Amino acid sequence: MSHPLTLDLTGLTAAVLGADGPTDAEIAALAPASRAARAEILARRDRGELGFFALPDDRATARACLDYARALPPQIDTMVVLGIGGSSLGPRALYSALARPLDALRPRAPGMPRRLLFPDTADPVTMRAVLEVCDPERTVWNVVTKSGGTAETAAQLLVVADHLERALGARARDHVVATTDPVAGALRATAAARGWRTFDVPPNVGGRFSVLTPVGLLPAAVAGLDVVGLCDGARAMRDRCLGEDPATNPALLLASLLHHHHRERGRPMVVLMAYVDALYDTADWFRQLWAESLGKERSTDGRVIETGPTPIAARGATDQHSQLQLYVEGPRDKVVLMLTARERATELAIPDGELAQSRPEYAYLAGRGMGELLDAELRGTIGSLARRRRPVGTLTLDRVDAPALGALLVLLECATAYAGPLYGVDPFDQPGVEEAKRLAYAALGRAGYEELARSRPAATAGGPYVL
Ligand code: PA5
Repeated sequence: MSHPLTLDLTGLTAAVLGADGPTDAEIAALAPASRAARAEILARRDRGELGFFALPDDRATARACLDYARALPPQIDTMVVLGIGGSSLGPRALYSALARPLDALRPRAPGMPRRLLFPDTADPVTMRAVLEVCDPERTVWNVVTKSGGTAETAAQLLVVADHLERALGARARDHVVATTDPVAGALRATAAARGWRTFDVPPNVGGRFSVLTPVGLLPAAVAGLDVVGLCDGARAMRDRCLGEDPATNPALLLASLLHHHHRERGRPMVVLMAYVDALYDTADWFRQLWAESLGKERSTDGRVIETGPTPIAARGATDQHSQLQLYVEGPRDKVVLMLTARERATELAIPDGELAQSRPEYAYLAGRGMGELLDAELRGTIGSLARRRRPVGTLTLDRVDAPALGALLVLLECATAYAGPLYGVDPFDQPGVEEAKRLAYAALGRAGYEELARSRPAATAGGPYVL
């Protein structure tokens, strides 16, 4: 059976790296730990703790998102997603990958797909600009927060609700939709009181694993993306990633080799380098997923271990002129994973005209495609890394379409889940993020956080080192 996504990790092994990578025997020796990690994660799934595995089966939710999109009045041409972290990165990755490039910049015309905007910020300059460019009559605001109370999202909501009520009066309620926990949290209560349409984030799905809940599917449906294909691709990959044998389960193999390179060979950095612009935001989504899931102070049994790999999102060929020097010649602390597609959505021929033929510096490009150039750059980058025995793998989509993207997202989610037990941490909590949220609440005088406000450590700014 053919798959829309191929994972090639040969470049992470002794076959390419010699003594710098694991041999077949060493890889086989990783299997018991991989099997145990999978068993631990699947036991949690079976106890109902991990909802993300089942999301691709939830056709009713996909249908509800598509129905909502179909029922939007024709004058609505924009959805703004108000959210941060896992409540914004997933839908943005879907939109960047599957919508037309620069869609948000194209002039709106009747019948065109709706555009999405992701401010993902509490920066007042950005938010004011968003309010300026969005016509209230033509915009729907999707407030996304699993917990319902994240400060940045709450602030965005308060600003937007006021702006809308001034502009539209009672009609404002038709321009807001809320995506949040089905029961708990401030947003759920507010939505009920204001009569806003709501969608649920299942309680057993955390923010960074929520791309296939309405967090991702609703914006995707509104932008006219192939939600059904996305779930189909995700489902097929999910089934592969449930397999017991690490030799054939791509998520287990990826997790165990990345973990091995970190813990046994001193390579904690994972660069995900997209040679398709549309996939750069997927690399950025992965950056959160891998970092927030695996960077932990404590092990699952409570010991202080302060562990975790560092993910880096990069773009080819752009970062060949920015980062590659470091990857090729700097410390041997990185694994590079190339993200690419066999077939590009379009090719742009470089004209073989008089200008191109006028100089040898141009002539070699004449008549070639820009995609061909990018592919050659990719091969060159892989070659330069491999020649220096630096681990480099590839994730190749047949083409950037919804099934392949669904497969890619689920592969990376499952690999992250399995990596958790390998590192000895819970990949589904984020105590450090929660602490920063509480400190911000305390700093702003939120009721209930008075004691934390008093016990805050001395400020890190000021003193003799201010120049
Ligand atoms: O993955 C996570 O849990 C976090 O990154 C959250 O998505 C982020 O903090 C936003 O939280 P919430 O969706 O509750 O507003």
